[in-house]
Amino acid sequence: MRILVTGGSGMVGRTLQSFATDHTWFFPTSKEMNLMDFDSIQSFIKKNNPNFVIHLAANVGGLYKNLAVRVDMLHDNLIMNENILTACYNNKITRGIFLCSTCIFPKNPPAYPMTEDMMLLGEPHPSNASYAWSKRLLFFQCQNYNEERGCHYLCLIPTNIFGPHDNFSIADGHVIAAVIHRFYVAKQQKTRLEIKTGTNSLRQFISACDVARTILSCLTRLDDISQRSPIIIAHKEHRLVDVIQKISKLFDHDNYLIIDQELGQERKPCSFQRFTETFPNFKFDDFDQTLAKTVEWFQDHYHTDVRR
Ligand SMILES: NC(=O)c1ccc[n+]([C@@H]2O[C@H](COP(=O)([O-])OP(=O)(O)OC[C@H]3O[C@@H](n4cnc5c(N)ncnc54)[C@H](OP(=O)(O)O)[C@@H]3O)[C@@H](O)[C@H]2O)c1
Repeated sequence: MRILVTGGSGMVGRTLQSFATDHTWFFPTSKEMNLMDFDSIQSFIKKNNPNFVIHLAANVGGLYKNLAVRVDMLHDNLIMNENILTACYNNKITRGIFLCSTCIFPKNPPAYPMTEDMMLLGEPHPSNASYAWSKRLLFFQCQNYNEERGCHYLCLIPTNIFGPHDNFSIADGHVIAAVIHRFYVAKQQKTRLEIKTGTNSLRQFISACDVARTILSCLTRLDDISQRSPIIIAHKEHRLVDVIQKISKLFDHDNYLIIDQELGQERKPCSFQRFTETFPNFKFDDFDQTLAKTVEWFQDHYHTDVRR
């Protein structure tokens, strides 16, 4: 297969690159193929002739970014998603994998843990509504292509992803990456860190390697996996305060204070039953080991290629 990966310079994209063998792969950066510009996609596809797409690119970030730049998050993601879908279909790329997010799920689901069939049963949480609506429409449009035009577009729905190559921006990054960066700075400056989070808040985390390995498993199995049914990629819940404590230990910096304040949802567990039924032999990465590897990678690459 000739596989076009959008977002190849991001966390999941860089991780996927490290596993990419067997096929011919293309990982253009946004400079080489700008998804906001239809002609740029069209010319990259014409030149390289891929026959499979893995769409990872997005305007994505943590809670604070989701609250702060709602207009851009909806605008950019809608345009990027529509552009790549249209360009792929026009160029006969009718097979692909698209990354959504568990942010899609409603703020008041009928039950927990949430399953794939509950995705659209109600409004998403306001803390990430623009991003959630763009991903809902991506999922909806993939279904339209599958049902009306015979495409094989599979949507994967990961929970919070973390690992090396994450965006470690304190303002825009996801929780683990932003907290790692804050501990790094506090340790360097020998200062006390104050972290706002709900003391009872729980999150499911998945390593970027687990997401990349799932994508690879789907590549050759697209025909047995029903494209009408998306798959949640999730694993166990962790208390955020426990994760913060683990990061503090990895930095050997215990001078921090938790301020009990949750701006998002306290918990939103998603089922990974369909995932384990589809991939019964899948072994999840160990959370503590991946966290240690991420902190080590961040420190080793702080002055070179850490996005911050
Ligand atoms: N991170 C999470 O916790 C999480 C959770 C659930 C789902 N997801 C989804 O998983 C996917 C991968 O996430 P990630 O964390 O790997 O993202 P990321 O590290 O933030 O990377 C984003 C990628 O999107 C690309 N991109 C942004 N604007 C672009 C444009 N105009 N044209 C082309 N490419 C553009 C960036 O390319 P350049 O760097 O070259 O600009 C970068 O490669 C996304 O679809 C995200 O929504 C992520």
